[in-house]
Amino acid sequence: MKGGYRHVMERTLAIIKPDGVSRGIIGEVIKRLENNDFKIAAMKMLHLSKKQAEGFYAVHQGKPFFESLTAFMSSGPAVVMVLEGENVITRYRELMGATNYKEAAEGTIRREFATDIEKNVVHGSDAPETAAFEIAYYFNNLEIVI
Ligand code: CMP
Repeated sequence: MKGGYRHVMERTLAIIKPDGVSRGIIGEVIKRLENNDFKIAAMKMLHLSKKQAEGFYAVHQGKPFFESLTAFMSSGPAVVMVLEGENVITRYRELMGATNYKEAAEGTIRREFATDIEKNVVHGSDAPETAAFEIAYYFNNLEIVI
């Protein structure tokens, strides 16, 4: 779009994946969110079952990495959050960096902390429709601060 960002109030689902939790970098990720003025509208820790991980990543069913991804995502606790703000879907994706940390920009979370394409520390929704599905997967309305 010409003229830069359109200003749209959005929500996105953010996850600190089991590799981030087990390596003790929850605080690092949250510090970056706070330093960059992201509003955290909801947050909790949970340990997904394999079935729950498969349901969350249903769009990737059939892909070669689906089995390994859902095993990894159910291997330990994760932190799930709702972030809210203008253009937050894109802004958070920029903070995370590319899925493949080798392609992620300097200074991004994945560039600094990811160890492989699967164990890439964080997840973020990629569009408003997926954000709505992903937020509802973990949170009800009463759990989201407005
Ligand atoms: P995420 O943003 O959570 O979305 C799907 C996840 O699958 C991705 O991050 C990675 O953790 C994992 N993954 C593993 N291999 C691939 C791949 N080749 N392409 C995309 N995602 C992959």
